[in-house]
Order: sequence, then structure tokens, then C-alpha cells
Amino acid sequence: MNLTILILAAGKGTRMRSILPKVLQSLAHKPLLGFVIDAAMSFHPKQILVVYGYGGNLVKQTFPSQNIQWIEQKEQLGTGHAVLQAMPFISDEGNTLILFGDVPLIEQKMIQRLIVKGQKNLAVLTFVKDDPTGYGRIIRENNQIKKIVEEIDCDASQKKIKEINTGIMCAPNLILKDWLGQLSNKNRQKEYYLTDIVGLSIQDNIEVLSESADNEVSITGINSKSELAIMERNYQLMTANALMEQGVTIMDPHRIDIRGEVTAGQDVTIDVGCVFEGKVILGNHVKIAAYSHIKDSVIGDHSSIEPYSHIEDSKVGDHCRIGPYARLRPGTKLQNHVHIGNFVEIKNSEVNDNTNINHLSYVGDSLVGKSVNIGAGTITCNYDGINKHPTTIEDGVFIGSNTALVAPVKIGKGATIAAGSTITKDAPPGDLTVARSKQTSISGWTKPTKK
Ligand code: UD1
Ligand code: CA
Repeated sequence: MNLTILILAAGKGTRMRSILPKVLQSLAHKPLLGFVIDAAMSFHPKQILVVYGYGGNLVKQTFPSQNIQWIEQKEQLGTGHAVLQAMPFISDEGNTLILFGDVPLIEQKMIQRLIVKGQKNLAVLTFVKDDPTGYGRIIRENNQIKKIVEEIDCDASQKKIKEINTGIMCAPNLILKDWLGQLSNKNRQKEYYLTDIVGLSIQDNIEVLSESADNEVSITGINSKSELAIMERNYQLMTANALMEQGVTIMDPHRIDIRGEVTAGQDVTIDVGCVFEGKVILGNHVKIAAYSHIKDSVIGDHSSIEPYSHIEDSKVGDHCRIGPYARLRPGTKLQNHVHIGNFVEIKNSEVNDNTNINHLSYVGDSLVGKSVNIGAGTITCNYDGINKHPTTIEDGVFIGSNTALVAPVKIGKGATIAAGSTITKDAPPGDLTVARSKQTSISGWTKPTKK
């Protein structure tokens, strides 16, 4: 199949009231145009062209590596004018599918049906909408499409028509080029309307075929922040449904946000208010409790993330328990059966099997062995104000509460560190190391009195 896909993305999107061009506004942390480009790629067309205009370079820079031909429309004189700009880059053979950069959730199946109809004819994707306000209306005679009239150009009876133009069309290149050359801007908006090619097709005795869209979300365009917010909820619900179909238990599909991709094993449970970003992989029997935020991380089998935990660029092994209120920062690697408790922050560290760090600690740039117990309030002082230094804590170590480990430092295998110590030199294996001033009591000391 000799298919070209042309994406119109030159509009400013005035109603967004944003400096960012409309097609770069994001849905689930991904620019709208990104959805359309990905959908276009999935058809493996001969070429993909994007007509850009407002915010030009920014739009191009957002999609650097992709195999796209960018065509500038210097002035936005209408959808017909936009398509015309691309014609010199399209061969006479084959067909062109026209997509809009602000209609992100188009579905492959229905577009495929439209492409089939657009082999020899102009094919238009339509939808019967309860409230057609704002859209071009499909005017039919004897069930045949005769023209498309923009809302602003509609008379009272045309305004009542509920069948609308989604904007998505497919046509053979040669006749498309011919029609575009004939467009005029004699209408209320003084724009070159792409929709006028319907009338030109009828003039040429080429029947205009239509295909109806499967659902409203898939053809909905976005023009304002409130439409964007509605689309976001629709998209999130679709994503949640897809996960539930794979067997994930989601406590409330209306209270989950996936801004990226979540892969889940069997019998995974996700409680309310969780946000997932980037690529997140959840193993079997994983539990994510309420209000956790997980980004680009892997959680192993049978591990549970307790409420209000934050995990980023980290790997959690099997049978671990994290949180509540834990923070795993980039470069954290936890092996199996590790417990990380409340108000514990781990950064760029490896923690081995059966180790517990349960309360109020900071562990950074560290290698922590197996079966270590790190007492409440332990801090690895990894930063001297200029450089970062590593801490090594070997297997079986016990660190008493409120200990400062001034890096670089190493605590030998099986050592015990007394509570309240400030450790500045390596601690030998097996021994108890105490590093604090001796306790003294002053007898007969009197409390101060109020002056
Ligand atoms: C268009 C259709 C309307 C349809 C509606 C569906 C026309 C004349 N009207 O109207 O029938 O119901 O879409 O959403 O086609 N664009 C450019 N350059 C321009 C103008 C627009 O690239 O000069 C791009 C925009 O960035 C956008 C798309 O074309 O991605 C649609 O433009 P928009 O102004 O939103 O068209 P509508 O008035 O909504
Ligand atoms: Ca629009």
C-alpha cells in the first residue's frame, strides 16, 4: 500500500491560553502530537508529514529522532491551505490519510476501514454526536454526502444535524491535489476549508464515502484546558480498564494515574491515589498501597509498597516491604526480604537480603550487606560540601540509633556501633565501636529559676 499520512499541527490553539502550542500540551505526560505520530507510525506508511506553524521549532525539537518530514505553514489560513502546503512533497500515486494533531486517541481499526474506502474515493470519518456544537456538519441527500458546512456557516436547520465531520479523511493523491488547487476562502472565516473538497468531489462525479467512528473519545479533538482535563480522565480510565482486563485489582479505576507504561504480573493490587510515571514493572502479588508515586522502577514478586511512598529509578527485589512514607531515590537497588520503613531515604545504594532500615534514616552512596539492622535516625554523611563519598556496611552489622557514619567509611562484618556514635574511621569486624563522649552526671545541679 502506497500510503502517506499527513498530520495537521500548525494551529496555535488560542483557547488553551498558553505559550506552548496546542499540539504540545500533554495528555498523561505525553504531548498530544506524540499520540498522533505514534498512531501514524503503527500503519507503517510510506511517509509521515507534519504541517507545523505556531511554535515551529519547539514542535520539531520535541520529536527529534523520528522519521518525519516537517512542512512549515507560515500563516494559518485554514485546514485546506495546510494540506496544500504538503502537496509538493507527495507523489501522484497512492493515497493520503489526513489526521489532526489535536485528536490524540484515534483507533487503528476504524482508521483502517477509512483507508480502505479512500482508495479510489474521498472517504470522510464521521460521528453522530448528541451535542454537535462547534463541528462541521455532514449534509446528505438521499443518504449521499453532498457537503460539509462549518458551524459558523450553518443555517438554522443545518445546525440541528448531529452527524459531524471528525476532520479525518483519506483520498487518492492525484485528485486530492486537483481539488486543493481549486479551494477558495469565500466564507465567514476567510479560510481555505479542507472540507470544501467534498463539493469538488461531487462535481467530479466521485462519490464521497463515509465511515463512522466507533466511539466519541477516539475522535474528540482538544481545544481548551477543560477539554484536556476531560480527555485525561477518559484516557486514565481506558488505561485502568486495560490493566484490570489483565487481572490487576484496582481499588478505584477513577483514582489512578498512569503517565507512561505499567506492566504487572499476576494478582497485583493497586490502592487509590497512586501515580505511575515512565516505565514501571510490577511483579506477581505486588501490593501498592494508597497515594504512592512510582517512576521508572521495578518492584519484585510479593513486595508491598505501603502508603505515601516515593520510588524513582529504583529496583526493589522480592518479598520487600517499603514504607509507609519511604523515599527511594535514583540508583537504589534492594535485594530480597528488605524492609525500608517510614521516613527513610535511600539514594544510589545497594541493600542486600534481609536487611532492615526501618525508621528515620538517610542512606546514600552506600553498599549495605545482608542481615544488617540500621537503627532509627542513622545518617550516612556522604557529602563533604564538595564531593560525595561511599559508605560500606558489611553483612550482619548492627548500627545503633542516631549514628552518623562520616564517609568514606567502612563498618566490618558483624560489627556493632553504639547508639549516638559519630563514626569517622573504619570500624573493625565483630567489635563494639563506641564513638561518643562519656556520660557524666553533675550532682547538686540546680535548675534555673524564672527572672
Ligand atoms: C475542523 C473542520 C471541522 C471539523 C473539526 C473537527 C475544517 C474547515 N473544519 O474544524 O469540519 O468538524 O475540525 O475537529 O476543516 N490547522 C492547521 N493549519 C491551519 C488551520 C488548522 O494546521 O491553517 C490544524 C490545527 O492545528 C488542527 C487541525 O488543523 O490540528 C484542525 O484545526 P481547527 O482550527 O481546530 O479546525 P476546526 O475549526 O475545529
Ligand atoms: Ca478543532
